Amino acid sequence: MQNSQVNTSLPLNLSSGIAEGKPGEFWQLGDRAVRRIGFGTKRLAGRDLDGADRQEHAVALLRRAVELGVNHLDTAAFYPSHGAAGRTSFDSLDWANDVIRRALAPYPEDLVIATKVGPTRDGLARPDELPALVERDLRTLGVDTLDLVNLRLHRVESIAEHFGVLAELQAKGMIRHLGVSNVRVEHLQEAREIAPVVAVQNRYSVGFGRVNDEILGVCGELGIAFVPFFALTAESREAGGVPESAAVQGIADRHGATAAQVRLAWTLSRGEHVLAIPGTSSRRHLEENLMAGDITLSPDDLAALDALVD
Ligand SMILES: NC(=O)c1ccc[n+]([C@@H]2O[C@H](COP(=O)([O-])OP(=O)(O)OC[C@H]3O[C@@H](n4cnc5c(N)ncnc54)[C@H](OP(=O)(O)O)[C@@H]3O)[C@@H](O)[C@H]2O)c1
Repeated sequence: MQNSQVNTSLPLNLSSGIAEGKPGEFWQLGDRAVRRIGFGTKRLAGRDLDGADRQEHAVALLRRAVELGVNHLDTAAFYPSHGAAGRTSFDSLDWANDVIRRALAPYPEDLVIATKVGPTRDGLARPDELPALVERDLRTLGVDTLDLVNLRLHRVESIAEHFGVLAELQAKGMIRHLGVSNVRVEHLQEAREIAPVVAVQNRYSVGFGRVNDEILGVCGELGIAFVPFFALTAESREAGGVPESAAVQGIADRHGATAAQVRLAWTLSRGEHVLAIPGTSSRRHLEENLMAGDITLSPDDLAALDALVD
């Protein structure tokens, strides 16, 4: 967050974690280099804690993530969200943004915080409602400019009107970079005719969301980051957890790794432009996820995982 006062983040110091400068560790997201394993904040609150304890836990987790070298956070005003399968809950608006600000402001210079606008309690926001949602993110994150705003769509044919509004806000300096989420290739093309797109965020995992293979490839050709959500939880979606899969577990066992790590390693194998943003409320899972970059899947592993299509 370049518009904030700078503080110093410690380098990653997990003994076998992501080594500084390791090939394929970073991706250039607009004008900022981010580590390819970031942190999604949708699950930040967990389900087991309440009130102040929940906040303190989340603050500590975010600080630990940054201490370990995470410099790409994904958030939204409507996070955390543990709605019923496939549904977003709007019961705790601004919670994640407030916790991020409390935990990390003044923000490290290299930190990129991606937000998303579009969903509201009443469905997709109207284009004229977007400026207020962006202003809300600016206020709750405590910044003058948002690093990256994803337009999160739901069942629209044309995204031009919505994206045009965000491009105007970008021109006013409220947004540094734009992305799109839950989109098809046609949407991406439509958006790029209006303003540059640095990221596409769609569902994608081992054996799940493979309809997005095409857009993932298009992003690679265009130098746009593909940032999958549900990379771990896959078909379990909002319900969370990592689904049982004998194939994934077998590969994990051979590598002395966990199924979650294999899913993340596979995610990273899909292209250098693919960024992971696993969500967790657990310090152990956070640390485990960050070490997934150390796993090198063999051609046989990759072939077996690639063959699992939904
Ligand atoms: N653009 C969109 O429409 C959209 C939609 C959904 C999500 N997102 C973004 O994408 C991020 C990732 O998606 P997500 O959080 O919904 O799902 P996810 O990252 O695929 O999976 C999260 C689930 O996996 C569990 N988990 C995490 N690490 C684990 C590990 N090492 N071992 C076992 N279980 C583990 C978490 O539980 P624990 O808490 O117990 O670890 C949680 O239940 C979100 O945080 C959010 O930032 C975007």
